[in-house]
Amino acid sequence: MSIAEQLQRQHLAALTPYASARRSMSGDGIWLNANEAPYTPSVDAQGDMLNRYPSFQSDRLNGAYAAYAGVAIEQVLSCRGSDEAIDLLIRSFCEPGRDGIMITTPTYGMYAISAQTQGAKVIDVPLVADGDGDLQLNTKAMLAALDGVKLVFICQPSNPLGNRVDRKALQAFIEAVGSRALVIVDEAYIEFVDDSTQASAAQWLNDYPQLVVLRTLSKAFGLAAIRCGFALANTDIIEVLRKVIAPYPMPQPSLQAATAALSTTNIARMQALVAETKALRDDFIQWVSRRPWALKVWPSVTNFVLISVPDATQLVSNCAANGVLIRNQSAQRGLNNTVRVSIGSATEMQKLMEVLP
Ligand SMILES: Cc1ncc(COP(=O)(O)O)c(C=O)c1O
Repeated sequence: MSIAEQLQRQHLAALTPYASARRSMSGDGIWLNANEAPYTPSVDAQGDMLNRYPSFQSDRLNGAYAAYAGVAIEQVLSCRGSDEAIDLLIRSFCEPGRDGIMITTPTYGMYAISAQTQGAKVIDVPLVADGDGDLQLNTKAMLAALDGVKLVFICQPSNPLGNRVDRKALQAFIEAVGSRALVIVDEAYIEFVDDSTQASAAQWLNDYPQLVVLRTLSKAFGLAAIRCGFALANTDIIEVLRKVIAPYPMPQPSLQAATAALSTTNIARMQALVAETKALRDDFIQWVSRRPWALKVWPSVTNFVLISVPDATQLVSNCAANGVLIRNQSAQRGLNNTVRVSIGSATEMQKLMEVLP
């Protein structure tokens, strides 16, 4: 039995997914099978084929992302942002009221929110400081707390901390979990990590059937508005997610924009923006480290920086009053009086530095 068959919610085993018109029959010809209009009558609608339901999964998009991520097209599911992938995983694998997910706080908030929405339990095994004071996975405690856990969510690199999860520890953890649970490595910010292809867990997919990697076009690719994310996993897991995902998940304009973003030219442009953002980040870190109110500037391999300050609420509202929005992270475990600053354009960072004390 595959790991997906073993862990999925039991009723899904017998479920036949909705056979949408586009999923069951598409190709050249005259399309009269989905109650669509023959054309788009409104004059200012932008884009092609807006009268048609989009593909269930676009081979062009999934193929382009597979090539970019170094995986097989069968290992790709595209969805409405990686937030949808988080929700799909929980809906597919966690029996409400019985199964749980594991998170490692401080971490991205949507794992717990999606779980609570679905009635799945949330087991928190907080990160612990290593010898250098860097917050890292407590893999021993995580392995000890796996009972009843179907999905383990690991944010790599971490939002909100901005650091990397130790790669060796992560691999050893995935191995030790074996077939007891799926390990979800959320790589929303992976493009900002030096040598990101090597740093990604995607290259382990063929070794670990329990691994799922989440990706997005919302961050380095600068396409948050089109809502495009990806779950990368082995085909048995992708098959289960395909049962649960909506019949026409991604809007056609999003599919077009996402596919275009993955051309060689546009990947190079994304990489140029990443390089620019990293340089601005390092300049900002240098600048802010000299401010007396910056009690700790957390090292970052991402496009944001976490800063411990004397009074986060006051700092956030002072910035807002001057037209710059930064994020208070104080509600996160162990992050009392911290703010998170996203790295914007050179002009935006200049304005931020004028506004900060
Ligand atoms: C760690 C992490 N994962 C996932 C997401 C969701 O991204 P999206 O749904 O836009 O792909 C975010 C967004 O901030 C994030 O920080």
